[in-house]
Amino acid sequence: MQRRLWLVFTAVLCCVLVLTGAAMASEAPQLVDEASIPEVIKAITLEEKARLVVGDRTWVQATGSAGASPAIERLGIPPMDLADGPAGVRISPTREGVDDTFYATAFPIATLLASSWDVELVEEVGRGFGEELLEYGVDYLLAPGMNIHRDLRCGRNFEYYSEDPLVTGKMAAAMTRGVQSYGVGVTLKHFAVNNQETNRFTVDAVVSQRALREIYLKGFEIAVKEAKPWAIMSSYNRLNGVYTPQSYELLTSILREDWGYEGFVMTDWGAGDNPIEMMIAGNDMIQPGRDAHVEAIIAAVENGTLDEAILDLNAARILRGVVKSPQFRGYVPSNNPDLEAHAALSRRAATEGMILLENNGALPLTIDKRIAVFGNGQIETVKGGFGSGDVNARYTVSILEGLIAAGYDVYEELARSYEIYIKGVRQLPEYSLEGRRWGRAPVPPQKPLFNDEISKAEQYADAAIVVISRNSGEGSDRTITEGDYYLTAGERDMIERVSAAFRAAGKPVIAVLNIPGPIEMVSWRGLVDAILLAWQPGQEAGHAIADVLSGKVNPSGKLATTIPVSYSDVPTAKNFPGYPEDNPVQVIYEEDIYVGYRYYSTFGVEPAYPFGYGLSYTSFDYNNIHLTTSTLSDKVIVSVDVENVGPVAGKEVVQVYVTAPDGKLEKPALELKAFAKTKLLQPGEKQTLTFELDARTLASFDEKLSAWIVEAGDYAVHVAASSADIRGTVSFYQAHDIIVETVNNVLKPKMEINRLSKF
Ligand code: BGC
Repeated sequence: MQRRLWLVFTAVLCCVLVLTGAAMASEAPQLVDEASIPEVIKAITLEEKARLVVGDRTWVQATGSAGASPAIERLGIPPMDLADGPAGVRISPTREGVDDTFYATAFPIATLLASSWDVELVEEVGRGFGEELLEYGVDYLLAPGMNIHRDLRCGRNFEYYSEDPLVTGKMAAAMTRGVQSYGVGVTLKHFAVNNQETNRFTVDAVVSQRALREIYLKGFEIAVKEAKPWAIMSSYNRLNGVYTPQSYELLTSILREDWGYEGFVMTDWGAGDNPIEMMIAGNDMIQPGRDAHVEAIIAAVENGTLDEAILDLNAARILRGVVKSPQFRGYVPSNNPDLEAHAALSRRAATEGMILLENNGALPLTIDKRIAVFGNGQIETVKGGFGSGDVNARYTVSILEGLIAAGYDVYEELARSYEIYIKGVRQLPEYSLEGRRWGRAPVPPQKPLFNDEISKAEQYADAAIVVISRNSGEGSDRTITEGDYYLTAGERDMIERVSAAFRAAGKPVIAVLNIPGPIEMVSWRGLVDAILLAWQPGQEAGHAIADVLSGKVNPSGKLATTIPVSYSDVPTAKNFPGYPEDNPVQVIYEEDIYVGYRYYSTFGVEPAYPFGYGLSYTSFDYNNIHLTTSTLSDKVIVSVDVENVGPVAGKEVVQVYVTAPDGKLEKPALELKAFAKTKLLQPGEKQTLTFELDARTLASFDEKLSAWIVEAGDYAVHVAASSADIRGTVSFYQAHDIIVETVNNVLKPKMEINRLSKF
């Protein structure tokens, strides 16, 4: 509605201008381009300014997006429409009084996208987002989410990419380039250190400056510098005692001064407790639009606690975001994006990020096979997590549907019994889906299995597929309980009995994991012949899974997050989600820089599946690993020939880790410094990959100097198929320390942290 009014208003204004001459039409200066912003700021009233920096709730009701900035028609300022989220454009599929529908494509979750290790693919997915945003009239996407997978319990990890900041930063930069190529903005979120949902509105994350710079801020730094995002969303939590939207040190000293960020910053919805501090910190926009915030800002300027020049700066930054927006450019959305092309893209992307964890030869399973499919998740396949990251897609292809569509002969009686069971259970009040918001749904128990059901299935089929599904989402963390991290008794029983029956007959059992993050696998993986980690693959889930199981697509995904043997091995197990345990006010990041594989590799803790790991239907040799130079005068270039030495075409993800010398700073045993994915290599085909490492890439953060430094000594450069599968090491010697960059000495924790050390 508001958009229509705005278009009508613009049209009328143009007529008036033509008829009466621009000079006479309006005395107030108009926002026409970036250069006009100073004049507009001079003419804007205090109240208009206060409204501009506070969101506008009315918009949300029209389109179902998350929020907006207000229009100020007198000055030619249009509203901006802001919509979630990381797995697709989140708007209402219907609008009042309109027959058309507004479904968006549910792409795979961010964790799956990162597991593709394919920045070009992620940029292409970003372009898919871009077209939908533009054609549905959205100006800013409230994504990508780029918090680090610090602990597998974080309920929103599915919205985030990885435990590693390089992977996170490269993926977010690619997504940003893709989206913004359509002239719509991204909003990197949640800046920063929002690594849990428990008490997310208040919890204080206490983190060392080094861990901040190297782990939690690094991904944002990469994306800001490489891809120039138009907007950033600060987070809910406190960071070293201060709410992030109220942290001048974070939003100005680091983001703008150290990194040169030029866009605007908005709060997360309802974050923080002091709108004046937000303005001063450089948090330009407060969402989702409360009159109390407008009033507080006006009062603060009037009583002198907020310098109006600061408010001017916030307003000007927002206006710079406005003049780039489609709505300002007068773009008329078609409401008809190419959903068919995006469905195909979603399916392809999904296949690229699925990970083959185990395979004793059971896969690929050619489509002439008869199969029996077990597990509720074959019917209720989870396309993505719940919360603001959920997408209103027109459909989700279930695993059962996908397998049938691929041409498998599926044992029908069993499939039917699952369908009937799920239908029945959803009619019970406790499992009803009625009135559920945000995709959150109660999870029914596994359908019980009768013995003769299993034996009949075994007699019919050549192989069994067992589906395990999980969901998680915004507002709560995952739990280390049965039904979440552990299998339920019903799931365990299903795997054990199906395994016994099929294996006794020499028939394979294949597990498909439709999950948002790691679950416990070690206790049952020996019962199956193959495990496909399919993640939550978006609306084309079933088709994409069938593509990989059948070998139509050779899996090439690798883990961007470690799967531990048991949760107690996780370095944050003892301090997540903070203290006091029943209602945390503070969470101390004692593991420091040792997050994910940095921890496992340094402390010799064996994971179930290491970071960077993933199998293929073919295999690859790594040859001719060498450095083009043996000193780091400017940069070193490492090169490797990757050859497909197996029977089918495939792609390989190659990783470059560095072991830096311990000097005054201790170093993790391995740090990822570069990665690439080969093209599709035919059997016998070879590709040479090269990777550049410069001083900035190699540097560690020295808190004493507040600087990024490269320390003197021997550097081992490992070319690897995973963090636990190093295929060759070359090294160079750095003769002296290098100070790469000195930065603002800010965000010091206010207490001593008992930091994990390898010494
Ligand atoms: C979430 C954000 C989201 C916003 C708007 C908040 O609750 O934390 O990620 O963008 O809502 O929906």
